[in-house]
Amino acid sequence: MRYPPHLLEEIRSRLPASEVVGRRVRLKKAGREWRGLSPFNAEKSPSFYVNDQKQFYHCFSSGKHGDIFTFLMETEGVSFPEAVERLASEAGVALPAPSEASRESETRRRGALEVMELACAFFEEQLAGRAGARARDYLAGRGLDGEVRRTFRLGYAPPERYALRDHLAARDVPAELMVELNLLTTGDDIKVPFDRFRDRVIFPIRDVRGRVVAFGGRGMSPDAKPKYLNSSETPLFHKGRMLYNHHAARKPAHDTGRVIAVEGYVDAIAMTLAGHPEVVASLGTALTEDQLALLWRMADEPILCFDGDGAGRRAAYRALDVALPALQPGKSLRFALMPEGQDPDDLLRTGGPGAIDRVLDGARPLVDVLWSRETELSPVDTPERRAGLAQRLREIVGGIRDETLKRYYRDEIEARLRGLSPNGARAQQGRERAPFVPRPRGAPAQPVSPRLTARASPLLARSSLFSGGSSSREALIVAALLVHPELLARGAEELAEVEFEGADARTLRGALLDFAAEGGAGDTTLLDARLERAGLAAAAGRIAGLVRPGDRWVLDPHADPVRLEDALRQAVILHRKAGTLHSELRAAERALAEEETEANFAWLRDVKTRLSVVAGAEVEAETAEETEPS
Ligand code: UTP
Ligand code: MN
Repeated sequence: MRYPPHLLEEIRSRLPASEVVGRRVRLKKAGREWRGLSPFNAEKSPSFYVNDQKQFYHCFSSGKHGDIFTFLMETEGVSFPEAVERLASEAGVALPAPSEASRESETRRRGALEVMELACAFFEEQLAGRAGARARDYLAGRGLDGEVRRTFRLGYAPPERYALRDHLAARDVPAELMVELNLLTTGDDIKVPFDRFRDRVIFPIRDVRGRVVAFGGRGMSPDAKPKYLNSSETPLFHKGRMLYNHHAARKPAHDTGRVIAVEGYVDAIAMTLAGHPEVVASLGTALTEDQLALLWRMADEPILCFDGDGAGRRAAYRALDVALPALQPGKSLRFALMPEGQDPDDLLRTGGPGAIDRVLDGARPLVDVLWSRETELSPVDTPERRAGLAQRLREIVGGIRDETLKRYYRDEIEARLRGLSPNGARAQQGRERAPFVPRPRGAPAQPVSPRLTARASPLLARSSLFSGGSSSREALIVAALLVHPELLARGAEELAEVEFEGADARTLRGALLDFAAEGGAGDTTLLDARLERAGLAAAAGRIAGLVRPGDRWVLDPHADPVRLEDALRQAVILHRKAGTLHSELRAAERALAEEETEANFAWLRDVKTRLSVVAGAEVEAETAEETEPS
C-alpha cells in the first residue's frame, strides 16, 4: 500500500532523526548537526552525520544517506511498510484504514495466496507419496533429499492432466482463479484447461515473506523441453522483481553483510548446503535493475556468480551493464566466475564447500570486470586502438548516474589508461625509474618503491605545499625545474598534465617541455640561454620570487636530489588534488544553488570534507614530526 506523503512528513516531523538514530548510534552535537561513528562501517573517527532540520542522516564512510524510515530498513532489515508502521505508532500518527477497494483486492490477494499454498502442499504430498518415487530418486541422485526437500518445499507434479485441477476444485477453488494463477494451461483451442505442471519436480518460488507465489518445474529426463517450466506472470508473480530464496536469504545476508546471487534454483540450494544461506537466484532471466535494487538492500556488494563459460561471461557483462548506471557510493557488485563449464551445484559436488569458498573469495570488483571486458575485446597495441578504448570507456562511465561515483570512476579509468601508454608500461617495468609522481590510488596494482610513497617531511609540511595558495605552489614546481632541469627527464609527462593558473607558469612550462623534448634536459646553461633568447628570463625571475621562504632551498643548485624529488612530487600531487577539488567544489555549489536536494547538499559536504583532508595533511605531518624527529 502507498502512504500519502503528508503522513510520512508528519511522522518525520514528530520523530527527530537524531532520536531514532540515537538508539543505535552514540551521537554528539556538532554545530547544527549530530555526529557519530558510522553504523554501517567500522571506523575510528566519526564520519556519520544526522541533521534534524533536514530530517536525514549522511554517512561519509559508506555513502549511505536517508531518513528515519530508511535508517530502520538499513539497520534492522525491515521493509518500508514495516518501518512506516513502527514509526507511525511510535509517533502517534494514525495510518489510514485500507479503503473498500483496497480491502477487496487484499481479500482477493489473500485468496490467491491460499490457493498457491494449497497447490504447493499438494505437490509436496505427491513427492512424498507413491506417485513421487521416481522424483524422489531423481532428487536423491542430485543430493537433494531429506531436510533440504522440506526446507525448500520441493514437490512433484504427477503426469495426469487434471490432478491438481481436481484437487483444488474439490476445495472450492474456482477454475478462473486457477487459470489466473497460471496453474492451468488454457488457450483458444483448448476446450478444458489442464494442469500446467505435469511430471515435473517442483521448486516453489516464494515472495519476500516466504509465501508461495509461483512454481518452477524441472523435467527429469535429459531431453525434457523446456528443461524448466515456470509460472508466467500472474497478479502474484513478477519475475523481474523477485528473487528465488529471497525470504530465507534476508536474515543471513543481514547478519553476514553479504549476499550471493546465482543463476539456478538448484545452485541456490547447493550454496545453502555449502554453508551460504545468504544466497538468491535470479529467475531464469538476465538480472534486472529491480532485482539489483533488492540485492543492494541486502548488502552493499552483492557477489554475482556466473558459469565460467562464454555464456556465463556474457551474462556477467549484461549484469554489469544493468548495474553500472545505478551504482552509488558504497554500492557495487563483485563477480565470481565458476570454473569452465561448472555451475555452483556442479562445483559443490566435485570440489566440496572449499571449492565454492575459493571461487567466492576470488570475486572481482566491477571495475576490474569492466576493464577486462573492454581491453580483451581487441588489442590495444596502437595509439588508435588505445584511443578507441578510451572513448568507449569514457562513454560507459558517463552512464553512471551518481555524480560523485562517476568522478571516481573517471579517475580510476584514466589512471588505468595512462598505465597502457608506452610511458606507463615502462613505469611498470622499471621499479627504480618510476615517474616522480606516483599514479593516483586505485591504479592497476604495480610496485611503487617505498621511497616514492614516503610521507611528507616535516619541513615540507610547513611549506607552501600544504598551506600556501596555488600560485606559490605553481611557482615552486616551475622554479625548481628551472634550476634542476635534469628532473625533466623523468617528469616531463607529469609536468605537461599539471594545470597552472598563472600565465608565467604556463609559458615557462611550455619552454621547459620543448627543452626536454629536444633532449637538453640536464644542461642548465643551455636552458638559461634558451630562456634568455625567448625573452623569458624576467618571467623566470618573477616565478622564483613567488617561491615562499620555507621552500627556497629548492632553488639551491646543490639541493639534495632525493629531497628535491620528494618536494616536487608532493607539490604536484597536492596541486592536482586541490585543483580538481576546487572545480568540484564550484560544481557542487552550483548544483546546490540550482536545486536544494539532499543529494546536492551531501555532495557539497563531501567535497568540503575531502578538501579539508588535503589541508589537514599539514596538521598530520606536524604531528608526525613531534613523534619522530628526523
Ligand atoms: P540452467 O540451464 O543453468 O540450469 O538454468 P541449472 O539451474 O543448472 O539446472 P539443473 O542443474 O540442470 O537442474 C538456470 C536457471 O534458468 C532458468 C531456471 O531458473 C534455472 O534454474 N531456466 C533454465 C528456465 O527458466 N527454463 C529453462 O528451460 C532453463
Ligand atoms: Mn545445474
